[in-house]
Amino acid sequence: MKTQQSPRDYVAEHVRKIPRSGIRDFFEIVQSMSDVISLGIGEPDFVTPWHIREAAIFSLERGRTGYTSNLGMPALRREISRYVQENFGVRYDPASEILVSVGVSEAIDLALRAILNPGDEVVYHEPCYVSYSPSITLAHGKPVAVSTRAEDGFVLRAEDLERAITPRTKAVMLNFPTNPTGGTLPRAEQEKIARVCIEHDLIVLTDEIYSELTYAGGHQSITTVPGMRERTIFLHGFSKAFAMTGFRIGYACAPAALTEAMMRIHQYSMLCASITGQEAALEALKNGQSAMIKMREEYQRRRNFLVHHFNAMGLDCHEPKGAFYVFPSIRRTGLSSREFALKLLEDKKVAVVPGDAFGPGGAGYVRCSYATAQDQLEVAVQRMGDFVKAL
Ligand SMILES: Cc1ncc(COP(=O)(O)O)c(C=O)c1O
Repeated sequence: MKTQQSPRDYVAEHVRKIPRSGIRDFFEIVQSMSDVISLGIGEPDFVTPWHIREAAIFSLERGRTGYTSNLGMPALRREISRYVQENFGVRYDPASEILVSVGVSEAIDLALRAILNPGDEVVYHEPCYVSYSPSITLAHGKPVAVSTRAEDGFVLRAEDLERAITPRTKAVMLNFPTNPTGGTLPRAEQEKIARVCIEHDLIVLTDEIYSELTYAGGHQSITTVPGMRERTIFLHGFSKAFAMTGFRIGYACAPAALTEAMMRIHQYSMLCASITGQEAALEALKNGQSAMIKMREEYQRRRNFLVHHFNAMGLDCHEPKGAFYVFPSIRRTGLSSREFALKLLEDKKVAVVPGDAFGPGGAGYVRCSYATAQDQLEVAVQRMGDFVKAL
């Protein structure tokens, strides 16, 4: 008879290797305190617009409470197809090239699991969203980070990408506008990156969840660069632009063979996304534009306010072109990101996220979310100014 192991020994090796999220640990401390102003959460402070909530309620009243097609409701897939074509300039067939997922989170996981063989390398730019590296590891891939720099607007440079490519590289993950830096990817650089991906026959996963929240020049997707559509999985969702985090709806658009591969995993692991969330998402795409534009205008005002005040208090802060985060440098204070965030929390009760929670490239920065009401931002800036002065 085999001896019983300790419960920890039952955990799979690749899961043991995954670090706990730095954000989660930090916010456990925040939650144990009262009267904290939090610039930490990557979630809109707006409640989902009423007409979208009403659509969800009405669908429940009509008794719409069952499973949907694995790929998602056909009406929603048709609407996603229209929306993506009108706003991103690329057409996907609603019958075979669109999969509705449980947030973009599930779509990232599906895309990685669908394409990776054990040991395949995935290159991504960093600082980046906390889930990328663990999601690659969970899909038995090897995460390979390429650093981006503040003085360069946190743009991924094609030559840096190319240096990271090896014979094991299978895919590249992009996220522009970027969480946590707000960086965007200019068209000329997209074209260079596309050339590298085509030359090395790589698949691109492009997470464009913040694309509607682009403040200057509009958003362009790398999917539209000639030669890219057939090698790209386009990931998008409703959480950020439509303030719908709790509805948990995202989607992946990709050539039929890749969509079919993702669907096979999704049909056995998730079956389908919630029908109530899908009904709400359908309404968001049909009638949600004007509420979304109003939220974007408010985010832009808040971004301008924060960038101005951080620079005025001596924290160098580039102007992020998108998303709802600013990423000021705290190097001049002589503190590490974590020391700065902890001391600011203890002394002034303002929560920001240490930049290295988004990878080593984020050391020396903190992430401040401006998906926070303006009156709260004003108090936070006052307190942070006093804090920096007293250091
Ligand atoms: C870059 C990025 N991708 C994906 C997600 C997850 O989005 P969803 O709520 O659609 O799962 C987030 C959430 O913060 C994010 O910042």
